[in-house]
Amino acid sequence: MSKTISGFSKLSKSEKIDWLVNAYFDKQEDTKIILKQYWNSNDKLQQLHDEFIENTITNYYLPLGVAPNFLINDKLYTIPMAIEESSVVAAASKAAKFWLDRGGFKTSVISTTKIGQVHFIYKGDHARLKEYFNTVKSKLLEAVKPLSKNMEKRGGGILDIELRDKTAAIPNYFQLHVSFETADAMGANFINSCLEQFAKTFKSEALNFEGFTTEEANIEIIMSILSNYVPNCLVRAEVSCKVEELTENKSIPADVFAKKFIQAVKIAEIEPFRAVTHNKGIMNGIDAVVLATGNDFRAVEAGVHAYASRSGSYSSLSHAKIEDGIFTFWMEIPLALGTVGGLTNLHPLVKLSLEMLDKPNAKELMQIVAVAGLAQNFGALRSLTTTGIQEGHMKMHLMNILNQLEANPEEKTAIVNHFKTHTVSHSAAVEALEKLRQ
Ligand code: MEV
Repeated sequence: MSKTISGFSKLSKSEKIDWLVNAYFDKQEDTKIILKQYWNSNDKLQQLHDEFIENTITNYYLPLGVAPNFLINDKLYTIPMAIEESSVVAAASKAAKFWLDRGGFKTSVISTTKIGQVHFIYKGDHARLKEYFNTVKSKLLEAVKPLSKNMEKRGGGILDIELRDKTAAIPNYFQLHVSFETADAMGANFINSCLEQFAKTFKSEALNFEGFTTEEANIEIIMSILSNYVPNCLVRAEVSCKVEELTENKSIPADVFAKKFIQAVKIAEIEPFRAVTHNKGIMNGIDAVVLATGNDFRAVEAGVHAYASRSGSYSSLSHAKIEDGIFTFWMEIPLALGTVGGLTNLHPLVKLSLEMLDKPNAKELMQIVAVAGLAQNFGALRSLTTTGIQEGHMKMHLMNILNQLEANPEEKTAIVNHFKTHTVSHSAAVEALEKLRQ
């Protein structure tokens, strides 16, 4: 059967599945059973999920876990995390408990400005463009009033529009560089709608500007789009304690651990190969909460990694120091998040996650998410500089191995007990299970 098709999106869900299983699968009935197994029995709920995107054939599950005991600015939280990686929620919970006994996490929002740009081509005298921009600016703001008035009621709106000359990089290339405050919304739709209106008004008003020649008046809009680089939508999270309080077990003295930990952070600050993995560990925590709260993790990822490269070399997002006997570990990170709009009022599990977090506003959510990242980074560095990562990681992964081997509940209990005192590996798990089954 041919594998191209036109009009696919117009087919019904079951027609789409029929086409798909015919085109790609040997065991067609089995494939259909798997796809349908993940449909929700509540038709209305299933339809809601179907309509999030085009061509939905089923649902793709991720576990939603919770990490309790997070003390953030003296308020306790249980943090929802949607993630498939075995050890992430366990590591977050462990780090939360550790810092609960040491004053918890301190956070603050540094800034909340977001950026959008209209990219355009103008061929002519630069001073005349500047003059045009100064005359048209108020008209641009006027033109988006119908879009911005609700946002203004909620404390947001357009902060500024700048004309930026980029002709040194690309001939005749300029930008309207616009800064926005989007209050509790992530704001992508608001920003993009405003930008598209700016572009329209900017182009059409140019035709009436007397100072322009015919060629100058013919401004060519290339595109209008928000930027996911948000270095001025920044949150800080921090933990600190006396160096001697920095150990829970006797395996490593607190001061030795503190120094080793700081070395590990310094390595991530100067070595990109390490920094990427170090930051990946931070994103384990961040993405899981971003997903659970219905936010756009691709936007967050893109913005965070760009921020980690802002010096020209990719570097650690977190930092650590000892000063006057106090160990401090902190991170400043850009996070454009929303607690209204998007999926937040639609997806029942997102609503539930936000309720679990005491219905935070966007600034509060930025702080919670940053803490999840810092906690995750603390957990990873603590393991890496003491026991090694595999001990905890493989313990958590053991259940996946046992499920792959189709262990029954009694076997699982016995094997988990066995590995309380043995090192977990795939082959060791296979061996232990074989022994048990003999
Ligand atoms: C694994 O998902 C994340 C870590 O590799 C992070 C790190 O190395 O810091 C453990």
